Amino acid sequence: MNVAWQQGNLRKFCQEKGIHVSAWSPLGAYGASWGSLAVMESPILKDIAIAKGKSVAQIALRWIFEQGATPIVKSFNKVRMKENLQIFDWKLSEVDLENVKKIPQFRAVLAREFISEDGPYKSLEDLWDGERSHCYSGGECLDPKTFEAHDTKQLFQYTVSM
Ligand SMILES: NC(=O)c1ccc[n+]([C@@H]2O[C@H](COP(=O)([O-])OP(=O)(O)OC[C@H]3O[C@@H](n4cnc5c(N)ncnc54)[C@H](OP(=O)(O)O)[C@@H]3O)[C@@H](O)[C@H]2O)c1
Repeated sequence: MNVAWQQGNLRKFCQEKGIHVSAWSPLGAYGASWGSLAVMESPILKDIAIAKGKSVAQIALRWIFEQGATPIVKSFNKVRMKENLQIFDWKLSEVDLENVKKIPQFRAVLAREFISEDGPYKSLEDLWDGERSHCYSGGECLDPKTFEAHDTKQLFQYTVSM
């Protein structure tokens, strides 16, 4: 879970069932061969970060914390580790939260392999419970215009070969 894969339906389900959500790859696995730039290069997050005097990573992590989930962030860098912990004495505004909702949704894996007429999931809609993604890491854009508007062409820097 991260700002670029918010999974509102899943989080609502978990909340109703008393299931605590852990957000793996909260920065979109930034820099990893399987990761994306959808979080760290988000123009919306960058604007919020500049206005608040925080880093993009801090905005991404604080948003997760404010959703009641736990970010599981990884860093090998001591300075960034400390930075990632400094998210507890300030908060996002209502306007910030509304803007985060506008971030294009990017699913790292489409998981077509789980779809089968004989299995429990007959279609991608079934599998993802209607969670809508504009793009996924295979490079298929379900809604290319949204991505053009956000100038995230470099989003696929790490993913075109997948
Ligand atoms: N079990 C599972 O299914 C599963 C799935 C996904 C992830 N995970 C685990 O979740 C943890 C986190 O996920 P992840 O490593 O994939 O992705 P992530 O935490 O979203 O991103 C890690 C990347 O962000 C960089 N980074 C961290 N803090 C930063 C900051 N403040 N500013 C700029 N860059 C920053 C790190 O680089 P530096 O190290 O250079 O700072 C690293 O390249 C890992 O332990 C991973 O193994 C588990």
